[in-house]
Amino acid sequence: MKKNFLRILDWGKNEIEEMLSLAKRIKKNPSKYRNALKDRTVALLFEKPSLRTRVSFEVGTYQMAGRCLYISPYEVQLGKREAVKDVARTLSGYVDAVVLRTFKQTVLEEFAEYSGCPVINGLSDKYHPAQILSDLFTMYEYKGRVEDLNVCFVGDGNNVCNSLICAASVFGFSLKIASPKGYFPSLGEIGVKKAKNISFVQKPKHAVRGADVIYTDVWVSMGQEKFKGKKNKFKGFQVDSGLVNLAKKDCIIMHCLPAHRGEEITEEVIESKNSVVFEQAQNRLYAQRALLVKLLGKK
Ligand code: CP
Ligand code: NVA
Repeated sequence: MKKNFLRILDWGKNEIEEMLSLAKRIKKNPSKYRNALKDRTVALLFEKPSLRTRVSFEVGTYQMAGRCLYISPYEVQLGKREAVKDVARTLSGYVDAVVLRTFKQTVLEEFAEYSGCPVINGLSDKYHPAQILSDLFTMYEYKGRVEDLNVCFVGDGNNVCNSLICAASVFGFSLKIASPKGYFPSLGEIGVKKAKNISFVQKPKHAVRGADVIYTDVWVSMGQEKFKGKKNKFKGFQVDSGLVNLAKKDCIIMHCLPAHRGEEITEEVIESKNSVVFEQAQNRLYAQRALLVKLLGKK
């Protein structure tokens, strides 16, 4: 049966671990996988802008002898020019996998239901699982383990935060989330049960104290531009050096990027020696190559 990657929770811990270990092998010995996607075509159907997701999937496919097709929002106009289920059935008749970046998780789920080939979530309003898959890989790389890490997320309880919560629920690491009132993620909405390892605090310093990983993301996500007035609710939620000093000395600073320096993170922190944001961005390539191999590689 075809498999999709729409949410971290769609995959079991063992499957994710296998994928991370494959990502490690690919990073160490990329040439061994140079034909893994031979004769496979991956379509990237994106309704929002992208640098990392688009380029890492595209280059990753090429590096394994596959072909890639980028389809911009204007061309297809999902649900406007044509019904989502019609696009899904048509496109999946031509290609072997679709990476879809869309506004609504419900659109992604409808697309996956009708698609004859695997569908990968390239970011929706609710989740960004490809990002977090690769972030788990980065955490392993820097910390050698994931399960007993103290991870904190400071900022908007958004799609990236939701996927981090899913990862905490699968791997059991401690995740403390600090958001302004009204901007906390909702466990119910993402289908994660209340658990001891996932907690919500109102003061960033309570999340960051003793952390191994500090993660942040923009205060206004793509598609929320009309709510940019919400930024003034985030005063005091900036990751600055005062906050970082409360974490472990060897903590790593993560950000999915793009970053807004001077808002959710200071220039000083993003450029500091603890920041791994560009290694994190580069690892998208290896984690997603592993994902593609698992979903549509030659058996
Ligand atoms: N982090 C991330 O997904 O970046 P892009 O929006 O540039 O793809
Ligand atoms: N939360 C951000 C992530 C961008 C990669 C957004 O959705 O715009």
